Amino acid sequence: MNTASGSDFIVVANRLPVDLVVAEDGSQTWKRSPGGLVTALEPMLNGRDGAWVGWPGVPDAEPEPLVQDGVLLHPVRLSETEVTEYYEGFSNATLWPLYHDVVAPPVFHRHWWHTYVRVNKRFAETVASIAAPNATVWVQDYQLQLVPAELRRLRPDLRIGFFLHIPFPPTELFMQLPWRTQIVQGLLGADLVGFHTPGGVRNFRWLAARLAGSRLTGGGGRRPGEINYDGRTVKVGAFPISIDSANLDRLARTPAVRARANKIRGDLGNPKRIVLGVDRLDYTKGINLRLQAFHELLMDGRIDSSDTVMVQLATPSRERVEHYQQMRDDIELTVGRINGEFARVGHPAVHYLHQALPREELAAFFVAADVMLVTPLRDGMNLVAKEYVACKFDLSGALVLSEFAGAAIELNVAYLVNPHDLDGLKNILYEALTVLPEEGRRRMRALRRQVLTHDVDRWARSFLDTLGLPDQR
Ligand code: ADP
Ligand code: F6P
Repeated sequence: MNTASGSDFIVVANRLPVDLVVAEDGSQTWKRSPGGLVTALEPMLNGRDGAWVGWPGVPDAEPEPLVQDGVLLHPVRLSETEVTEYYEGFSNATLWPLYHDVVAPPVFHRHWWHTYVRVNKRFAETVASIAAPNATVWVQDYQLQLVPAELRRLRPDLRIGFFLHIPFPPTELFMQLPWRTQIVQGLLGADLVGFHTPGGVRNFRWLAARLAGSRLTGGGGRRPGEINYDGRTVKVGAFPISIDSANLDRLARTPAVRARANKIRGDLGNPKRIVLGVDRLDYTKGINLRLQAFHELLMDGRIDSSDTVMVQLATPSRERVEHYQQMRDDIELTVGRINGEFARVGHPAVHYLHQALPREELAAFFVAADVMLVTPLRDGMNLVAKEYVACKFDLSGALVLSEFAGAAIELNVAYLVNPHDLDGLKNILYEALTVLPEEGRRRMRALRRQVLTHDVDRWARSFLDTLGLPDQR
């Protein structure tokens, strides 16, 4: 509840669920924020009274708190320098590559770290100022790993949960971080620390013992375990995140989305097969590898661009970070090269949209796609894979899924692939394109059973139950 004495339930994330858009005439509107965190948390907060503390997505903006769909949105201001050093720097050029298996080299700068510390303190202070006595606070993701300990220092009465939406890296990689001890101690400020996979739990428990001198008791794996630290008990567990599966299934079945899917197929020239990729434009997603596999299959003559087309939808992301700029150039070069060799006038072989699309439009693409390519080099979960499955209500379609996405643990009847193995990727894509209908339906039926029964509500419920928050809905 949000009352004069504060909020009883607070989500704190780097971003608010909506970004502020300031037009040239100074007028302000809001648009949905990019990425999986919002996809997962938005339905969780629906129908639960609460507050969301986060950055409004533009530097130096300090809009007044506002209420949207019953949720109090409480903005935290970041200066231009803080956006550069805390968000683009330490969060996305140090932690992001380090936690994703160093697929790009992480950059370590002391001044970025100092800004990360300062901004984490500001988030904690903001939460401390609006939380009701004994409130529950759920801290989200790698941008805010120091918030749990800082918040506990300011407000020991609060119940604090932390969930990491990206992979927690192997201990050998984490040990490279000059500020490894401070990060582990920051997380240990929580009452419950959650990861997507049992592997993340194992890595964290080892590091907590090694770096913070904690004692481990019981649990681990899928059961929440406990760590004794600083005279308290910290629970640690794996909670694989999901999507609002039933809602997406419903959306996909609507006449409007089905008609739009048919129109998309028509606009693409009614090909026999549509191959789809949908991602935030990020170097962890393996977009260039899947383009390369598609390109080589065309060159080998195993597929033909007159009846098989590829669509790659990519949301713009972190556009001022150098690795993202380089990767965008590489991808656009590859798309241009494939089309240069295999397009016909009016019929590209690869359709590439560097745009964020509305949910209905995205659902229509999922409905239309015969093969979905999800090929990250490393991904915490990957919600796109689950979204595709939720949209295939007629059991059509095939999901090609990287072994290195957290989703591969649950979706193990997908066409699993090691994306580093280009020949393997080509073969599995070809197999998915040519699967017999009965075998395709068998796999999709099993995938849908998993996704429809393990939705985001179940994820949130299981985390909050373990944290000890009674269901107030
Ligand atoms: P991440 O959290 O790394 O961005 P996920 O796959 O977990 O990756 O979540 C991405 C979310 O962003 C999904 O909900 C997906 O539907 C959405 N998304 C990805 N690409 C687009 C796009 N081009 N337009 C709109 N939404 C997109
Ligand atoms: O968990 C991955 C994540 O960083 C989320 O925090 C966010 O939803 C998404 O990626 C998008 O990232 P950004 O907020 O940097 O655009």
